[in-house]
Amino acid sequence: MFSGDEYLNSKILIVDDSDNNVNLLESILLDAGYKHIQSTMDSREAAKIFKESKPDLVLLDLNMPHLNGFQVMEQLNEIEQESYLSVMVLTAQNDHETKIKALDAGAQDFLIKPFDFIEVNLRIKKMLKIKFLSNQAKQQNENLEKIVHERTLELQETRRETIYRLGRAAEFRDNETGLHVVRMSRISARLAQEIGLDKKECELILNASPMHDLGKIGIPDSILLKPGKLDAEEWEIMKTHSSIGAQILSRGRHELTKLAKVIALCHHEKWDGSGYPNGLKGDRIPLPARIVSIADCFDALTSTRPYKPAWSFKDTADEMDRITGLNFDPDLMEAFKKILPEIWKIKEALPDEERRISNPAPQNLES
Ligand SMILES: [Fe+2]
Ligand SMILES: [Fe+2]
Repeated sequence: MFSGDEYLNSKILIVDDSDNNVNLLESILLDAGYKHIQSTMDSREAAKIFKESKPDLVLLDLNMPHLNGFQVMEQLNEIEQESYLSVMVLTAQNDHETKIKALDAGAQDFLIKPFDFIEVNLRIKKMLKIKFLSNQAKQQNENLEKIVHERTLELQETRRETIYRLGRAAEFRDNETGLHVVRMSRISARLAQEIGLDKKECELILNASPMHDLGKIGIPDSILLKPGKLDAEEWEIMKTHSSIGAQILSRGRHELTKLAKVIALCHHEKWDGSGYPNGLKGDRIPLPARIVSIADCFDALTSTRPYKPAWSFKDTADEMDRITGLNFDPDLMEAFKKILPEIWKIKEALPDEERRISNPAPQNLES
């Protein structure tokens, strides 16, 4: 609060080449009760002192050797770009032109020599009050920005977490583990990055891909959990999980939900057009779905399932090579093969055995 005598704690810097003026101003300020006064008669020192002690007010002479008051103001403005610079010009020139020039250079007020004690004190107090109010407004703005930033992060975290819970809800009904969605989403994002998608697109793929099998929620247990092979009719029902997922995610307004819908719908489309549900061919299959289908298949092959052991790195690579051009976009597979050692590391960092103790946190690209 700018009340009582607190303003007397303000820091004041005097820059004037005349020792008479400096002494006079110092004694006026000391008599008034100011405790933190610094002064220099060498204008070349002004910027350095200002930087070190950040005064609340600068009393600045205009006519000085080396650097005049205008040049000093230029330097101070350069230093104090963020905050309000409080400069009171000391001048014997009471002419209009000098005043305009000083105001233009950043001065807020003038003290005309010879000094009037009462006027000096009143004007300095007024300047300090303005500086105090400006500091207060700046602080409030910073606090508000901090709060907005924190709330935004909180919202992003909540959104990511909800997405992961949703993705895992679908996986838990199946015999896959919760970590499948974490691994395949990271692999998808890494592949997206490799082919040059920007950070935002990679992050969207990272967060949308866990929902690829959301539609399994709508598949009856008798089919989804059947230990043996599915018959033709059951298989047709199983295949509807991609359209069910897309329906659940339809009419989403956020780009993340829109992308999740596309991925859910198209992640079983195949490059040669033999996939489902729409038999899309080649690059008519949306790129994110082409990416996800590679990551999904890689993780499925290299993971243990009730009906199969985990495949080795080499067998997986061979099999994926074999079905490139049938199932997968050959250009994407080219990029995928380049980063295979890295992909294998993602896989190894999140083994399924950890399922019971792990509770994978929502991710961002840095995680
Ligand atoms: Fe699927
Ligand atoms: Fe999957």
